[in-house]
Amino acid sequence: MNQKADNNKIVIAIDGHSSCGKSTVAKQLAKQLKYIYLDSGAMYRAVTLFALRNQLAADGKVDEQGLIDRLEEIKIEFRFNEATKQNDTYLNGENVEDEIRQLPVANHVSPVATIREVRQAMVRQQQAMGKNKGIVMDGRDIGTVVFPDAELKIFMTASPEVRAQRRYDELTEKGKQVSFEEILKNVQDRDRIDSGRKESPLKQADDALILDNSTISREEQLKWVTKKVKEITED
Ligand code: DC
Repeated sequence: MNQKADNNKIVIAIDGHSSCGKSTVAKQLAKQLKYIYLDSGAMYRAVTLFALRNQLAADGKVDEQGLIDRLEEIKIEFRFNEATKQNDTYLNGENVEDEIRQLPVANHVSPVATIREVRQAMVRQQQAMGKNKGIVMDGRDIGTVVFPDAELKIFMTASPEVRAQRRYDELTEKGKQVSFEEILKNVQDRDRIDSGRKESPLKQADDALILDNSTISREEQLKWVTKKVKEITED
């Protein structure tokens, strides 16, 4: 594995299935360690929103070449939101944090994330953001492709039903009308596409630690991860 930075900061890569709480752990860790948190999925979601808005995606299909031709027009940034104390995703200067979490984007993001040129552009930006270490990044290919030398790699998972239930609770809490079956189908479809795609499929890095959180609490999970970080940074 890679050397730590002079300031003892490391790169933490958290990969795993959709809706298994990667971002929850990643945000908690980043806050605790005063690291940057980067949600790589938000970048693929923002590209998908651009495709939807520009008639390059509809009915579950994506015009791949059309999107590739317009990649240069897509500028993604993260800006700190004082009210929520979190980073919001911006697409060409517009705050799209809320919109990228809705079902139209969720239903089209997997095919967008299979496009090699899209991935190359995103990976370049992600590597630039992590070059000084002190970053927690979550996604599907962080430990395998983006930061193969990350000092700590975690592969998270939970059963599809548990993940769909959590997503359902989250959306209904926000007052959204959604059906559990539709969400479960979305979770299963995304698993299939994420793991089966040719470009950077979701897979556990050989040196990643597995965290299955189907039956453990968020507190137990954070304790477990914090211990792993300590073991690395304090040796
Ligand atoms: O983590 P998420 O559900 O917000 O990710 C949205 C989609 O983006 C998901 O279908 C997989 C894809 N993704 C990816 O291919 N590579 C990443 N590093 C992060 C997300």
